[in-house]
Amino acid sequence: MDIKDDTWFKDLKRKRVSGPEINGNSYRNYGESTKCVHAGQYDDPNTNAIGTPIFQNSTFYLNDSVYKAIEEGSTRDSFIYSRYGNPSQWAVQEKISSIENAESSIVFSSGMAAISSTILALIEKGAHIVTSRDLYGGTYNLLYEDLQKYGISVSFVDMTNIKEIEESINPKTKLLYFESLSNPLLKFAPIPSLVKLAKENGCRLVIDNTFLTPYNLKVLDLGVDIVINSATKYLGGHSDLIAGTISGSRKLIDQIWPQMLKNGGSLDPHACFLLERSLKTLSLRMRTHNDNALELAHFFQNREEIKKVYYPGMDSHPQYDLINHLTDGKFSGMISFEIIGGDKMALRLLKELKLAKEATSLGGVESLISLPFNTSQASLTKNQKKSIGINEGLIRLSVGIEDIEDLKYDFEQAFNKIFNNN
Ligand SMILES: Cc1ncc(COP(=O)(O)O)c(C=O)c1O
Repeated sequence: MDIKDDTWFKDLKRKRVSGPEINGNSYRNYGESTKCVHAGQYDDPNTNAIGTPIFQNSTFYLNDSVYKAIEEGSTRDSFIYSRYGNPSQWAVQEKISSIENAESSIVFSSGMAAISSTILALIEKGAHIVTSRDLYGGTYNLLYEDLQKYGISVSFVDMTNIKEIEESINPKTKLLYFESLSNPLLKFAPIPSLVKLAKENGCRLVIDNTFLTPYNLKVLDLGVDIVINSATKYLGGHSDLIAGTISGSRKLIDQIWPQMLKNGGSLDPHACFLLERSLKTLSLRMRTHNDNALELAHFFQNREEIKKVYYPGMDSHPQYDLINHLTDGKFSGMISFEIIGGDKMALRLLKELKLAKEATSLGGVESLISLPFNTSQASLTKNQKKSIGINEGLIRLSVGIEDIEDLKYDFEQAFNKIFNNN
């Protein structure tokens, strides 16, 4: 884009509709894979290079057009300084907007940067937030420790109990904040009922869709106000970057953007390049994650070494019908299961696996496996764990895109080693 050509950001009508856009190629009417490959990509007209260059710069020339944008307050649509906006950010943001069916998106330096800026921007002094007891630890700490310290009240509810959610809303409630699929028990937030409650009570609904991704469920299409992803997980997909995204209407995202400027947490251009490149294969990867996880969940269900399997794609899951209906049978690559013999046996299993890597995080092309008792829920007492359903022997598996027969064989040989000594 030529910074001297100011027609694109002079058009105030356009910037309220979607964007900011580097060249307006959002491919909105195309299929999922086409959007993933093409949307947002900026092919440099000076060199004819295919693919968005890495604009590794912190600042931009000031000229009459930029001064005018500053004067008009349309700085989000102008390149001034890379914390405010950078072509590498705009390109990947446009791709994400296209995939999420959103008017606008922002990329952040982590999922937590996205979450903290979004929540802080959408509340006011004395506000009340309703959220889930099953929440990613970082988000829980932000809400429980920091926001309550500053006079924001927070109700932690059972995310599957719409009556309890409704009863906890009061006139000060400004925000309903939920994760579409919870960690590690994979409970599903009843999004259509939450949308209805948010509308009836004049509050915003924010959904962290990290475990499902926009490939499996486009929550904005259901009426959610803001969708958040820890792009560190499936969107990045290769366990090689830390990033976060938010998407929604241009008006709401514009409201959160100044909070990002104050908190910091914009995404570095090189990480934007990695994220944009990864997103090109999002639909391919998600299809395989989903298929592998569904098959592995059934494999686990039939093994005598396994006591219980948690997977939203099995009809034993209490919310199977709702999630199947909303996602059209796309259930995520995350499975949790309880092994016979408790945490001791779970630890032994992890050591015997050859493909699944013993590591925290999720959503990488490689299978990642960890135990909630010594990672995400490590700070809880035995009784606290039990009370929230984290039973002895619980294992969380992020199923990768390896060949399914190899994954099944890997678990089979590990079960044989730890249970039969062979
Ligand atoms: C559901 C969910 N949301 C948010 C986050 C935070 O993302 P990040 O680690 O990219 O800051 C995580 C991290 O594990 C997560 O699992």
